Amino acid sequence: MDVYGLIGNPVGHSLSPPMHEAGYEALGLDATYVTFEPPADEGAAAVEAADRLGVAGLNVTIPFKQDVLDAVDPDPLAERIGAVNTVDFSGETPRGYNTDAVGAVRALDHHGVELSGTAVVVGAGGAGRAVAFGLADEGMSVRIANRTASKAHALADEVPNATGHGLGDFDALLADADVLVNCTSVGMDEDETPVPKAALTPDLAVLDAVYSPIETRLLRDAASVGATTVDGAWMLLYQGVEAFERWTGEDAPVDPMNEALRSGL
Ligand code: ATR
Repeated sequence: MDVYGLIGNPVGHSLSPPMHEAGYEALGLDATYVTFEPPADEGAAAVEAADRLGVAGLNVTIPFKQDVLDAVDPDPLAERIGAVNTVDFSGETPRGYNTDAVGAVRALDHHGVELSGTAVVVGAGGAGRAVAFGLADEGMSVRIANRTASKAHALADEVPNATGHGLGDFDALLADADVLVNCTSVGMDEDETPVPKAALTPDLAVLDAVYSPIETRLLRDAASVGATTVDGAWMLLYQGVEAFERWTGEDAPVDPMNEALRSGL
């Protein structure tokens, strides 16, 4: 049996085990997916241990996404992002990927959103970095807006075709934008939004990385002005789908994985 898993601390009530196991079941794969909670400073050691134990693949979450870079050979995108959320042990050395970036791209793509033109990414933390690189690699111009504007400027210096901004000028940032992605924690378990409703336009596709609640205030506001909305569970799903496909070499059964994920939300 192939063993896959997630390392995080705290690893909490992760939705990844039911999502991945629904995928194994649908394809008849002899595999299981479990969670591990190593001490906070032992992410790289945990990856090395998993490699020796014959674990087939690991997802990596907070606080280990940067630390595990020391224990893997990162692919170019993960290296540029500076964070790994998926490790594949099938080769000679553990290979590290960042499927958060591709997850956002595939979530938008699944909803028919064209990834050309201009994207506004709100947030310059871990999620913001991944999404900014992911959308830039699709050829989009990226405007990064962050509460701490200096972090947005610093990230924009690394991302191709990007500019950095504070949170003060959403009217100008969004007026001609095509895609908006919230990568801050604003709206998580609270009825708040990082973007004033008045700045939203019907031409936007809005993805919120927050998935609890599934309909955030940002998505509610976006729907009310006629924008296309994509909830955070789609991004969570597609980062998992991308990891599943890297590990198994098979097309992931997206529908059962989506059902398992959503029934756990
Ligand atoms: P993650 O890995 O989920 O991206 P993170 O790296 O801690 O988490 O980043 C959190 C992001 O949410 C940051 O962009 C943060 O802005 P700052 O860089 O200014 O801290 C943003 N954020 C968190 N709380 C916020 C709030 N109340 N208003 C605006 N932005 C907020």
